[in-house]
Amino acid sequence: MSDFWQFSCPTKVMFGEGLSKDFSAELSAYGITKPLVVSDAGLLKKGLVDPIVSSIKDAGFDVVGPWTDVPSNSSVVAVKACADFAIKNGVDGIVAIGGGSVLDTAKAANILLTHGGDLMGDYSGAQTIPSALKPLIAIPTTCGTGSEVTQAAVILDTERNTKLSFYDQYLHPTLAILDPLLLQELPAALIAATGWDAFTHAVEAYTSVQSNPFSDELALPAVRLIKEAFIPAVTEPANIKAKGQMLLASTLAGIAFDQAMVGVVHSMAHAVGGVSHAHHGTINFILLPYGMEYNMPACVDKYAVLARVLKVTPKLKTKANLANHAVKAIRKWQKDLHKECGLPLRLRDVGVKRADLPRIAKKACEDGTSFYNPRELEEGEILKTLERAW
Ligand SMILES: [Fe+2]
Repeated sequence: MSDFWQFSCPTKVMFGEGLSKDFSAELSAYGITKPLVVSDAGLLKKGLVDPIVSSIKDAGFDVVGPWTDVPSNSSVVAVKACADFAIKNGVDGIVAIGGGSVLDTAKAANILLTHGGDLMGDYSGAQTIPSALKPLIAIPTTCGTGSEVTQAAVILDTERNTKLSFYDQYLHPTLAILDPLLLQELPAALIAATGWDAFTHAVEAYTSVQSNPFSDELALPAVRLIKEAFIPAVTEPANIKAKGQMLLASTLAGIAFDQAMVGVVHSMAHAVGGVSHAHHGTINFILLPYGMEYNMPACVDKYAVLARVLKVTPKLKTKANLANHAVKAIRKWQKDLHKECGLPLRLRDVGVKRADLPRIAKKACEDGTSFYNPRELEEGEILKTLERAW
């Protein structure tokens, strides 16, 4: 934990079953009259988007869209197209319905909608946005990214095969609508992948050098909620309570890591994401225990606390033994999820070639998240870690 810390979560959070079709009054509260709805083709086809659009239209708003041309890994090109559409139609706010890719596309498009300019050239990096953006309402349909409450967006630069990070206080959505019913049809493998992303956010926020008492009090409950609800949410399609608990945990973890940041698992995952088009949560699923082992020398105390939250009870209750058993329990849990929904356990299973690993290790060490990791990223050691995960 750092000596100095601050905490802020400017996003209003609302939770409720069916809320995504009953929040129009909030649009007026934020001065929105003509919202652009952003989502993706898959959600549109599943019928998740139309009822929300209808509910906004029925409340008298001049809805533009839905704009659904968002790829599964959002790209600079998709953001530009979305922003051009928004500007052409003169919208005064955005409602984003989807997973991380949709929410991040909407957040990045809102920069161009509000301030114009070139996404990569003018805004890539941290604290580059000159002033507040137009109001953005984020409605997550997965339980992982936390993007509905964070000041970050990650967009793929397809030309260079690099994930660009945008990080700015003005990227916080204005309002997050958490509706567990939107997760009703989410396939088990996606609940597992996105839920594991949320779990990784919670673990890495808790062990980050920038963690603070507030973020810890969000990260640890997120770990506990995920531990309780993960398997029921994956194995029981009708269990809306468990899915709602995962959604809540994902948002708590999102607020925690928005303040505390993440570490080596995300450093490696971002670099792997430039090579593999596997889901970000799937990549974290593979990498988390290896990243935790890398951090073990710096994290024994905190992993011992995690062991207690995960209800790991070895006979020998020294901190070192508890910490080791926390990682072991996570590996066991990982294997259970692999059996339940087939998530891959190795980097080789998601299109990474052994020859890619040195380049991935180098990129991981350069990733912005590496600065918040409790143990310095040493390229040779990161390469060994990636080889173990391969
Ligand atoms: Fe993540």
